[in-house]
This record gives sequence, C-alpha cells and structure tokens, in this order.
Amino acid sequence: MEKNENNSAGLEKQKEYISMLEDILYLRAGGQKPKAFVHTYGCQQNVSDSEKIKGMLVEMGCELTEEKEDADIILFNTCAVREHAEDRVFGNVGALKALKKKKPSLLIGLCGCMMEQEHIAQRIYKSFPYVGLVFGTHVIHKFPELLYKAVTGGKRLVERGYDDGLVYEGLPVHRDGSFKGWLPIMYGCDNFCTYCIVPHVRGRERSRRPEVILSEARQMVNAGYKDITLLGQNVNSYGKWLDGDTDFADLLKSVADIEGDFWVRFMTSHPKDASRKLIDTMAENPKICNHLHLPFQSGSSRVLTRMNRRYTREAYIEIAEYAKSKIPDLSLTSDVIVGFPGETEEEFEETLSLIREVEFTSLFTFIYSPRVGTPAAKFDDPVTHAEKAARMDRLLRTQEEIAARRCAGMVGKRYRVLVEEQAREGVLNARTQNNIVVELNEPSELIGSFCDVEITEARNWILRGKRI
Ligand code: SAH
Ligand code: SF4
Ligand code: F3S
Repeated sequence: MEKNENNSAGLEKQKEYISMLEDILYLRAGGQKPKAFVHTYGCQQNVSDSEKIKGMLVEMGCELTEEKEDADIILFNTCAVREHAEDRVFGNVGALKALKKKKPSLLIGLCGCMMEQEHIAQRIYKSFPYVGLVFGTHVIHKFPELLYKAVTGGKRLVERGYDDGLVYEGLPVHRDGSFKGWLPIMYGCDNFCTYCIVPHVRGRERSRRPEVILSEARQMVNAGYKDITLLGQNVNSYGKWLDGDTDFADLLKSVADIEGDFWVRFMTSHPKDASRKLIDTMAENPKICNHLHLPFQSGSSRVLTRMNRRYTREAYIEIAEYAKSKIPDLSLTSDVIVGFPGETEEEFEETLSLIREVEFTSLFTFIYSPRVGTPAAKFDDPVTHAEKAARMDRLLRTQEEIAARRCAGMVGKRYRVLVEEQAREGVLNARTQNNIVVELNEPSELIGSFCDVEITEARNWILRGKRI
C-alpha cells in the first residue's frame, strides 16, 4: 500500500470543528478576536508543523500574537532531541502557572516530539495540572477536534502514541516568512541511529506525492517566495514507498524547473544515501543552492558503526570531495556529536582531522545527550562531562580557524544575495545561495529581494559587502 492515502473524509470533519470553534473561542475570549501564542522548539520540521497549527488557528478566527501575556491559547511545540531542549520546555511550562492563575480561561497546550515519549507525557500530566491539552506529532491533523474537546469537555485531554503511517494533505498553512519558506516533502525517519530519538517520536518514513509538492512549490513561487527549503529527516530516501520512480534528485530538478526567480535548497541529507546523481543535479541547475548540509556525526568509522550510521569515514570524504569538485563555491555544512559513549581521545582526533580535511563552512556541534529508549543510552560511557566539554572546545576552535580562512578567501568576490532582515540600525543581513551571511549598509526596502554584492571585508566569520 502507498503510505500517503489522503484521509479527506477525516479532514472534512476537522473543518466542522474549526467552524464550531470560531464561535466558542470568540466567546471564551470575552467577545473578542481570540489570541493564540505558538512557540516552536527544535528543528525546521517542527517549525513547519507549527505553521500548520497556526494555519488552523487562523481559520478558527484567532489572531497570532508574540506576547504570551495577551494570549487566550498558548501552545508549545516541543523538541526531544537533546536533554537541554527538554529542560527548556519544562522550565518554560513551569513559568506559565502564574498566567493561568491570572486568566483561568487560558488554554495551555503542549505538542510535538516530547509528547510522543510516554515518560514525558506522564511527567507533564503529573507536574503541570494547568496544562489542558497534550498531543503528539501523529495527530496534528486532528488539532481542531482536540482543541474542541479540550475547551468543551471540562477535563484535560491527552492524545498521542500512535502512528497510522499516513500523510494528511490539505491542511491550511500559515507561513512565518513571506519570502523564505519551508516545504516538507517527507515525514518520519527509518534510520534508527543509536543515539537518536527522532524515529521513535516521528514514526516511520513516508513521502508526500510529487504532484502535491510541486503544486505547493508553484503556489509559493507565485506568492513571491524566493528561497524554498525542501524538508525531511533524510531527503535522499525520498519516494521509497511511493508508486512511480521519482527519486529525490528528480523531485529537486522538477522544483527547480518551475518558472520564476527563486532558489531551492534542502535538508537534511544522510551521507549513506547521498548519490552522485543528486550532486550532478545540483551542479546542473543554477536555481538549486550550492549548499549541502551533510551531517557526518563522527570522523571515526568505529564510532560511526556504533552509531549505526552505515557509512565509513572514507565514504563520507569521498562523497564530500565529489561534491566539492563538481560544484564551485559549494558550502558544505554538517552536524557533529562530541563524546558519543565510549569515544576515545584517538576517535575524537579523527573527528578533528575530518573537519580539517573537508573544510566545512559551518558546523552544528552537539555534546552527546542520552535519550531514554535509544540503544546508545545503555552503552558504556566512561568519559567525563568535563572531558567532553574540553573536546568540544578544541573542536570549536578548529572550526573557527577554518571558517575565518574561508571567509577571508571570499573578499573581493561577487555574489548574488537574498536580503533577509534588519540586523541592527543601518545594517541588513543578506545570505548567499551557499548560505553565508553578508552584512550590508542598505535601506530596509531591499528586504525580501535579490541583489548583487561584492564582499569588501571579512572579520573572523562575519562578512561585509557592498551593492554593485
Ligand atoms: N535527520 C538529521 C538530523 C536530525 S537531529 C540527520 O540525520 O542528519 C539533528 C542533529 O542533532 C543530528 O544530526 C545530531 O548531530 C544531533 N543529535 C541527535 N540526537 C542527539 C543526541 N542524542 N545527542 C546529541 N546530539 C544529537
Ligand atoms: Fe536521527 Fe539518524 Fe534519523 Fe537523522 S537519520 S533523524 S540522526 S535517526
Ligand atoms: Fe527535535 Fe523533533 Fe526535530 S525531536 S530535532 S523537533 S524532529
């Protein structure tokens, strides 16, 4: 069976809940437009889910607010990937107690990856009696029904813990940005890296159909989006369960072929499935950004085996070198874990040497965090936290030198950039298609448009440029 049946009958029911909620929420807010505050933790997948939740809230007549204090509904969309992320959620939920006391009609809801862990859902239920709604990642499409039951049922509601493996199309989306946007192409993950909670909380991998993705991409381009990121935990295995033979490289090319002036990028790629075809496709299509986020996690093949990553150090370097040779100005970025259980000094040094050899533009660096229910949480871990922190320091210093050298090498060169935001008074942040930030002294009217710049100065890894 294809894994992306569209349960449209189910969604019709949700529309009925949305229209009933319009009146109910209006009255609960004291005869005013209800205000909803949605805060997102974690990765772009969660950001994208929040955009659906916001889409549904807007259809219920809510106004979105950035101020918790004004809100009638507060939702935290949570992340479980590391302990630190979870601690922040617990802290911030604790801080909501006073708000609930002041406004008893306030509806506090928690959703997202943390809620798919039994022990976390239980802890929330016990420790935070003022949380009225808890729901997991698999039932986002039922949010209207859940909210309806939570506000009319008079008791707390928890809905989580199952994965029907289906893809639900047709939910409204309220995008946070007006020229940069996320476009999910698949959900879930089947890789089960031994440290990672994502497959446990996001369920099995499933792809959206190419025609729905292309139609959404076309709508985005028509609406003026200039920078579209295709999203998935492992985009390289796109299409595995679909009828038809569109693979990720084909999909990427079809998006790039849409008429219009825009860039398309993607994340995340798993090195075990990164194909030469994908890299050739990037090289041949000017609209596909010369940016490859290819997490290596560790430079030691022994550690990679213990992580169940299913590639070796050598295979990683080979595909990275192929990409660099095919794509001029390629920006390679990566994720790396320091202090995986049992990582020896020698194994850590292999990570340092891989960083020096590949020369990444930037790195997302994490100290290993044990996750309940994952195999690595039971591995022997004799290395102290202090030692891991010291390794992290060495890694950061190594990368800073490489980034500074790379940035210095860009001075005098010309790039097309997308102007993104006001960095501070008189200074705008723009981004090259290979994902490097350039500061410009230009008027804010340029935000959201492309322009050509020359890099004039590099201070460490911050670039300044001027318009040409
Ligand atoms: N699907 C993506 C990664 C998603 S999680 C991929 O496979 O590349 C983002 C990053 O968080 C991972 O790449 C990894 O570096 C880090 N991470 C995941 N679990 C972790 C853990 N238990 N401790 C520390 N870092 C972790
Ligand atoms: Fe986690 Fe590995 Fe899946 Fe990435 S590929 S989400 S690191 S299990
Ligand atoms: Fe976190 Fe869930 Fe993403 S665990 S990293 S928000 S998929």
